[in-house]
Amino acid sequence: MATRIVASVRSTLPVDDDHPYRTGPWRPNFTEYDADDLEVEGHIPDDLAGVYLRNTENPVHESIGRYHPFDGDGMLHSIAFAEGRARYANRFVRTAGLAAENDAGHALWAGLAESPERSIRHDGWGARARLKDASSTDVVVHAGVAKSSFYQCGDLYRLDPITLADLGRESWGGAFPAEGVSAHTKVDERTGEMLFFNYSTRAPYMHYGVVDATDSLVHYTPIPLPGPRLPHDMAFTEHFAILNDCPMFWDPKLLERGVYAVRYFREMPTRFAVIPRRGTAADIQWFEASPTYVLHWINAFEDGDEIVLDGFFQSQPSPRSSPDDTEFEQMFRFLDLSRLQAHPYRWRFNLRTGQTKEEQLDDRILEFGTINGGFGGLPYRYTYTVTGKPGWFLFDGLTKLDLQTGAVDEYRFPDGVFASEAPMAPRIGAIAEDDGYLLTFTTDMNQDRSDCWIFAAEGIADGPLAKVRLPERICSGTHACWAPHAQVASGPP
Ligand SMILES: [Fe+2]
Repeated sequence: MATRIVASVRSTLPVDDDHPYRTGPWRPNFTEYDADDLEVEGHIPDDLAGVYLRNTENPVHESIGRYHPFDGDGMLHSIAFAEGRARYANRFVRTAGLAAENDAGHALWAGLAESPERSIRHDGWGARARLKDASSTDVVVHAGVAKSSFYQCGDLYRLDPITLADLGRESWGGAFPAEGVSAHTKVDERTGEMLFFNYSTRAPYMHYGVVDATDSLVHYTPIPLPGPRLPHDMAFTEHFAILNDCPMFWDPKLLERGVYAVRYFREMPTRFAVIPRRGTAADIQWFEASPTYVLHWINAFEDGDEIVLDGFFQSQPSPRSSPDDTEFEQMFRFLDLSRLQAHPYRWRFNLRTGQTKEEQLDDRILEFGTINGGFGGLPYRYTYTVTGKPGWFLFDGLTKLDLQTGAVDEYRFPDGVFASEAPMAPRIGAIAEDDGYLLTFTTDMNQDRSDCWIFAAEGIADGPLAKVRLPERICSGTHACWAPHAQVASGPP
C-alpha cells in the first residue's frame, strides 16, 4: 500500500471521551490520506469501474452540551476502482462552520440535542436555525461532481469525486435557495437531473427544485404545508416527484416559545404530495395514508394510474423509553431500528381515484435500501438493505430483497464488524438488474482495521469477493453512493 498523509486536523475532543458515538466504531478520524496499490484479500473484479463515496459524521471539537451523532463534521471517504485496482482518499468537507470552529479552536454551534440558545454564534444554518451545517449526512455525484449535504438543510459542498479536492460551495449562478437544500437530493441517471427539497419554520415550509444535467437550477417551487415539518427524504418517478408530510414534527406550541421538541402526532395521517417534475403547487395531488415516520424511501415508479412508492414504514416512530434505559439509550432510542420497527413497505397512490393502498413488503426490520441507480424512478425488482445492531446505530448485516418473488439473500458480518449503507455498482456491460457488486466500508473492532468489502450482488450470502484494506480504521458512517466512471468529471484514476 502506498499511503500519503495529506493533512491532520487538531481535535479538541476529550482524551477520556466516553460518548458512545465518538468512541469504539464511532471513533472519528482526524488524518486525511491518499492511498493507492491497496492491499487486497481476494480479487477486485476487472469490470468494477467507478467510485464509491461515503459520508461520515466525524466530530472534531468537543460539543457545547450534549453531542448527537448527526452533529458530527462531514468527512468523505472515496474509493475508486478501475482495471482491478483501487485508490482511496478521505477528506473533511471544508464547511464554513468547521473552518470557523477550527479557527476558534472550539465549537461555536450547539447541536441537535441542545437548545439553539446555547450556540455561541447567533448566525448559522438549518431548518432549526443556529445549527452548524456539518454537511455530514449524504453524498451524491451529479454533473460529474460529488455533492455533500446536511439533513437539516444547508449548502451543497462540491468535491472532486475521486481526489476529493475541494471545489467550493454550490451557487447555481447565484440562484442557490436562501432556505438551503436538504440531504437526500435525488439524481435521475436517465435524465442527468438532480431533484431536491428543503424545509424550514417559515411558510410555505417546503420547496422543491430541479437542477439539470449541466448543473443549472431550472425549477424551484413552493410546496405549501400546514406548518413546519421534518421531512428527511424524497422520491421520484419518470414524470413525478413525491414529497412527504409525516406526522412527526416540532410541537407547534413549544415552537412558539423557541423550543424545538420533536413530537409524534399519532392521530394525524401521513400525507404525500405527488407533483409533476416541473409542476407547481397548483399541480400537486395530495394523498393520505396511515400515520408513521419514514426516514428513507427505496424507489418509486409509475404503474398505470398508480404511483408506487417503496420505503421503510416505522411501526413505532416514537419509541417509549424503558426504566432500564441508560441516559444514552434513552437519548438515542430514535437511532435504534429495532425500536423504531422499520419495515419495507409499499404505498400505491391512484391518480384517478385519489385513493391510497398500503402493504408491508417484508416483516424483517430493515432500513437504508439502495438500488441499481439505472432503475431510479422506474419499475425495479431488487433492493439492498442493512440490519441494525439492536440498541445501536450500527449496521451488522446486509439483506437483499427480491420484491417480485419475496426471496431474501442475507449476509451477517462477524461480531464486532460493522458496515455502512451499501450502494450497488452495476458491472460494466450489465443487463440484469442485479448484475454487479455491492460495496461497503467496514469498521472492524476485532482487528482494528477498515476495509472496503466487495460482494457479488447476485449472491451476497456467499460473502465478499474481496476486502480492500484502508490506511486506518475509519469511523462508522451511513449514506453513500456509487458513480460509474462515465458520470465522474475527472475520469478514471
Ligand atoms: Fe438519511
